Amino acid sequence: MATQSAASKTFEATQFKPTPNNLEAFFMPFTSNRAFKAKPRLFVKAEGMHYTTIEGRKVLDASAGLWCMNCGHGRKEISEAVARQIAEMDYAPPFNMGHPSSFELASRVAALLPAGLDHVFFTNSGSESVDSALKIALAYHRARGQGTRQKLIGRDRGYHGVGFGGISVGGMVNNRKWFGNALNGVDHLPHTYNRQEMAYSKGMPTWGTHLADELEKLVALHDASNIAAVIVEPVACSTGVLVPPQGYLQKLREICTKHGILLIFDEVITGFGRLGASFATEYFGVKPDLITCAKGLTNGSIPMGAVIVSKDIYDTFMGSAAEGAIELFHGYTYSAHPVACAAGLAALDIYKNEGLFDRVKELSPYWEQAIHSLKGTKHIVDLRNIGLIGAVELEPRAGKPGARGQEAFIAAYEAGVLTRVTGDTIAMSPPFIVEKSQIDQMVTTLRDVLNKID
Ligand SMILES: Cc1ncc(COP(=O)(O)O)c(C=O)c1O
Repeated sequence: MATQSAASKTFEATQFKPTPNNLEAFFMPFTSNRAFKAKPRLFVKAEGMHYTTIEGRKVLDASAGLWCMNCGHGRKEISEAVARQIAEMDYAPPFNMGHPSSFELASRVAALLPAGLDHVFFTNSGSESVDSALKIALAYHRARGQGTRQKLIGRDRGYHGVGFGGISVGGMVNNRKWFGNALNGVDHLPHTYNRQEMAYSKGMPTWGTHLADELEKLVALHDASNIAAVIVEPVACSTGVLVPPQGYLQKLREICTKHGILLIFDEVITGFGRLGASFATEYFGVKPDLITCAKGLTNGSIPMGAVIVSKDIYDTFMGSAAEGAIELFHGYTYSAHPVACAAGLAALDIYKNEGLFDRVKELSPYWEQAIHSLKGTKHIVDLRNIGLIGAVELEPRAGKPGARGQEAFIAAYEAGVLTRVTGDTIAMSPPFIVEKSQIDQMVTTLRDVLNKID
């Protein structure tokens, strides 16, 4: 009792204490909290291609926030749609009830995809999309009487978010090693990067198609009757931008089809135009059974993700449950949140009205030439690009992997350009509204920064 009242006293004393400049309470994600809090970098405003820092300095956004602000910042169409929706109806329960804009958004997302990929399950993030897709894959096989198919296959260096499913199929060691065993029954394909064979490739490397055959080896090891799904990012972005070798994704598709294994494309980054086509499935001409997406769905403005499933998967669920029974025991309080749906519909309007996917296609050759113009700059050991994605890989400092990358990232930020760093790779993925002069600025800034740092 005594402890309780002391605790509530402390609470009362502190709960309204204004501490605007205290950075301590926020446990920041994927960040060196101590380094950041010693020298913070705070944004307070965003408009078009730029952020404004708390000191009033403009920073060119070369990373579309976190690969999500495809239409650029401060889009009035989105903020007004969100404001209208929250005033009109702030929330509606998605279980057993519905609201019109969720159905409209699902239809409009499906319309961006090839025929047969036409049912949409809403989530609130990329991580939730991945875990939902994995669960749908498992439940699908069970629903069609193949419940032994429980193994999930990911890929080394893959990033599929931070849920237990996502880190299990993911292949970035730091995201896995701290968190125990995660899911059982997961195996991994090798990643597709080999610097000797593919350094400075423009777009898709010609080497590496054969790596898809590794899937046959996993099938031989585990037997197809035990494998539910293979999940890959069509372009592995968060690990430092690994562009798939020519023909690799087609081959994965063929092997999955041959063995009745579902193929999941994690398009959380490639979805909504990043490659100059609506989704990577269209760009590469390879049709998976499920697609995960998020980020660009609402232009990063309101958290929302989705899993798009094939007609076969949807029909299997509908056909296997008893009349009137729930077909999929899965969902979130905020699935198809009306405010997120409003943001999503407004973002899709912008993509369409401004022809932004075509704009990416038109800008891609300029982008490729700009990224590869960095060849020969100090520290650079490889350059990669596809669509409006570019990667600048640096030689790591001896015994200090990641240190040079982080220093380059901070120096670029201080010089007015926001990039994204993973280890010693600097990635850039600007909003689709980027101008050629701004692409030049990104490249020039990076060159200057690399010439200055050790
Ligand atoms: C391919 C991929 N999958 C999943 C995720 C996780 O998305 P979120 O951070 O929204 O959970 C990301 C995030 O970058 C991603 O790139």
